[in-house]
Order: sequence, then structure tokens, then C-alpha cells
Amino acid sequence: MMTVRISDDALALACGADDVAAAFEKAGAAVERVSSWGMHWLEPLVEVNGVGFGPVTPADVQAILDGGADALCIGPVAAHPFIVAQQRLTFARAGKTRPLSLDDYEATDGWKGLGRARELGPEATIEEVVASGLRGRGGAGFPTGIKWRTVAAARADQKYIVCNADEGDSATFADRMIMEGDPYQLIEGMAIAGFAVGASKGYIYVRSEYPHAIAKLEQAIHKSAHIIAPFHLEVREGAGAYVCGEETSLLNSLEGKRGEVRAKPPLPALEGLFGKPTVVNNLLSLCAVTHILADGATFYADYGLGRSRGTMPIQLAGNVKHGGLFETAFGISLGTLVNEIGGGTASGRPVKAVQVGGPLGAYIHPDQFDIPFDYEAYAAVDALIGHGGICVFDDTADLAGMARFAMEFCAVESCGKCTPCRIGSTRGKELIDRILARAPRGRDTVEALPQMHNAPRSARALEDEITLLEDLCETMKFGSLCALGGFTPYPVLSALRHWPEDFGVTRMAEAAE
Ligand SMILES: Cc1cc2nc3c(=O)[nH]c(=O)nc-3n(C[C@H](O)[C@H](O)[C@H](O)COP(=O)(O)O)c2cc1C
Ligand code: SF4
Repeated sequence: MMTVRISDDALALACGADDVAAAFEKAGAAVERVSSWGMHWLEPLVEVNGVGFGPVTPADVQAILDGGADALCIGPVAAHPFIVAQQRLTFARAGKTRPLSLDDYEATDGWKGLGRARELGPEATIEEVVASGLRGRGGAGFPTGIKWRTVAAARADQKYIVCNADEGDSATFADRMIMEGDPYQLIEGMAIAGFAVGASKGYIYVRSEYPHAIAKLEQAIHKSAHIIAPFHLEVREGAGAYVCGEETSLLNSLEGKRGEVRAKPPLPALEGLFGKPTVVNNLLSLCAVTHILADGATFYADYGLGRSRGTMPIQLAGNVKHGGLFETAFGISLGTLVNEIGGGTASGRPVKAVQVGGPLGAYIHPDQFDIPFDYEAYAAVDALIGHGGICVFDDTADLAGMARFAMEFCAVESCGKCTPCRIGSTRGKELIDRILARAPRGRDTVEALPQMHNAPRSARALEDEITLLEDLCETMKFGSLCALGGFTPYPVLSALRHWPEDFGVTRMAEAAE
């Protein structure tokens, strides 16, 4: 009997993978459900003896079984240019293993990292992570090993490992793909973290929009409990707010409180969940640790450049022809990612802008496409790589509208704790509305009173409003308690800087004068 492999990842399901699988079964084929290769434009992707077909509909099933369907055939999946061009560590098992099969996991070096950590002991395990240069993949890029050292050194009767799988950034899906496709990798990474810092309990905080991931994790935790014991894991469903991805807000949410950001210090590493020392790491950081331990710090650090070591699972989305998961060493240029790997826009129109790093990331102009994927290089141009999400826009995009959206998003998602974010975002949205309507603010009744000596004598000009927007962005950037308010200026100012014409001014210099 012919065996066909079809992903049961949420994206494949959304594209109709279940219907295709049912059609193959009805036609007499054996169907094996596997993780996704991460070539999203080809889903539902069907693999027969290593050869891929996609995107497949139930109507194509018979032709594939008869050895036809040439138009859908992509040749051997593992040899596809999109796969061959990658350096997959975290996603090495993608498309190849059955997500919940312990046999498949073990056969692909699963638990090797945990085994080596147990041989090395806690201290040497942490030093291995420090030496690898791994920086947190959740956005802030803080060195993971240093965080672990702090938690390990803290004295407490209980410590915790918390996996941040809230994955709220636009254009991101890598966390979800691991939870649905390779859940034991995350479990192993968390068990290593628990062993290293002396934590017996871990929580995985998963966004509520990921029901398939939550179901897979629950099963995987149950099946692997004996392997990671005495470490114990539980899954918690997120509260549905973007700010709950911020680590202290997440801890409040985990404790059953309102997802409001906590002031730091104290650091979560010293007073985190329920006031105990806690490692909060992004899912991808925890997965990277399994490879660092399995193959050594040097092996991992050999990938990348400068202070950005290792590989990054980059997520290509938005208006892009070949969207999907592309893991590679740091250093690749944005132009290569968007134009060569991604194949340009799905609409076929010219690329106008690319937002990197989620809703708080800057809009990058094609003139900057030679920028290497590297924390420092992005910071140098007032941008961020965040969680590695890349959202492509074609030339029909209105960047002033996107800047307005950034302020609106911040206003809606603000936890309300600090003024620059809570009030500033709403004022920012109003300000952009006035700029776009070319209706600068006039003098109000109070300003017109004779005793208001310092009030402006005339209505504001468009340039004044632009200057005010820049001032407001500066206040939000430096005065906000967390990065939600603090980074919202990145998309706003980058849009203003590179596409001033969308705001109704011809040049940025003119706008500033
Ligand atoms: C508004 C906001 C949302 C965030 N959302 C996430 C998220 O969804 N996932 C994540 O891992 N980190 C997120 N972060 C970053 C976390 O606060 C934190 O830096 C991270 O979980 C630490 O793990 P890492 O060191 O492994 O990156 C967010 C930060 C902010 C300010
Ligand atoms: S910046 Fe916004 S989300 Fe962050 S603490 Fe202040 S109000 Fe809350």
C-alpha cells in the first residue's frame, strides 16, 4: 500500500490538509501525519516516497496515486531550493518526523542534549550556554546563559522555568510550528534549563489562539513525563493580550492576575513567578539549548557573526510569494531573504516596505536591503529583528496609515501602567489623523485667553505637527516602562523618515524644518 505523508500543522489544516488526507485514505492509501516542512505556499503538501506535490486538493489525489499530477510535483522535498538553502538546527526535524512519536524523536538525536547536561552537571551546563553566545529569541536578545547564571545563584526553596510561547508578533509562527511539529524539543530544552538552575517545575504559556499547539503539548508532556522527571511541566493558556507576551505581564497573567507590566527591579530571575527565581525564555531560545548541549557550544557559536551567534528561524510572511520558515545563520541580508528566498511579493508588484520584528519593528526601505540579519546592525538603523518575523508590503501599501495603525495598536494593547504609552499612543493617533487630514490643530478656548501668555499665537502648521509627532515619539521611546510604548516609535518614525510623501510632505528634511 502506498504511504503518503501530510502535515497536521495548523497552517496545513487551514489550507485543507484534512480533506486531502481523507481523500487519500478513501482511495486506499495509508496516510502518515507529520510536521510541516515550513513551505507554506505549497500547503497542503503531500509527500510520496520523498517526492512532494503541492498545493494539493482532494481532486488531485487520484492523479498523484496514478503517478501523474506533474504540474504539482516539486521533486524530492528535501532537495527543494527553499530547504537546501537553509541551515536548520531548531527546525532540523521539520517535515521529517511524526510530532508525537517518541521513537522518531529519539532516532533524530532527541534527548541527547539532556543526557549530556546530566553528564556535565548544572554549572558546566550553564557555562556551555554562556559560551555558545545564545541570545534570547523573544526579542530583547539578552544572553540566555547569563540569565540562567542569575537564577542558579539565587537561593530559594522553589524556582521555575517559564516558556514564553505567547508569540504575539505579526508575521511569526515559529513557536507554533515547534509546539505542533516537534514538541519534545521544547520539553527537552525546558528540562535542561530546570536541571541547570535547580528548578523542579516549568510552565509553558501559550497564546489562546493556538488550540492545536496546546493539544499537542498536553499529549507530549504526558508521554515524556518519565524522561524529564523529576522536572514537571504544565501548559497554561494565554489571556489574549499582546502585552501578556512581555515577561512580567506574562508572570502576572500566569499567577491569575491582570496582565499588567511589573516595574524592574526586581528582575524575574530573582523574584519572578509567585515571587520565586524564574527563568523566562522564549520557546526558540529553549529549543536552541538542546543543540548547544547535544553538539557543544563551539558547534553552535560557529554559526552567525559578531554578537549574533547561532541560527535564527526567520519567518517570511505578508505579501510574499514564498512564505514560510527559513532557518539560517545570522548575517543573511534582508534583500536576499525577501527577493531571492521569498521570491518578491505574492501580488507581483514591487516591494515597498518590509516590517521586521513584529508590530513594534521598523519599516525597512528597499534601499536598506543590504542590512545583515544581526541584532547590532538592526539597532544601528533604529530597527530590531525581534522574534524574526518579516512582513512584506507591496507598493500599494500606505505607510502613513501603517504609522497610524502602530499608534492605534499601542493604544488598544497598552496595559495602562505608564503615561507615555497609555496617553501618548492615543494622542499620537490623533496627531497622525490631523496630519493626514492636513488639518493642524488650531488654538483652543483656553489657549486664546489673554492670560495664557505662553500659548501659541496662531494655529499650528503641518511642520509643527510633524515636529510634535517626533517629540511625542521621543517621549514614548525614553519614558515608557516597557517596550510596547518604548518601541512603537520605531514603525512610526521609520515610516515618516522613508515615506514622507505618504504623510503629505515631500521630504523628511522639509518636514523637520
Ligand atoms: C509588548 C511585548 C510583547 C512581547 N511578546 C513576546 C512574545 O510573544 N514572546 C516572547 O518570547 N517574548 C516576548 N516579549 C519579550 C519578553 O518580554 C522577554 O524578553 C522574553 O520572553 C525573554 O525570553 P528570551 O530571553 O528567551 O528572549 C515581549 C515583550 C514586549 C515588551
Ligand atoms: S509601555 Fe505601555 S504596556 Fe508597557 S508598562 Fe507602560 S503602559 Fe504598560
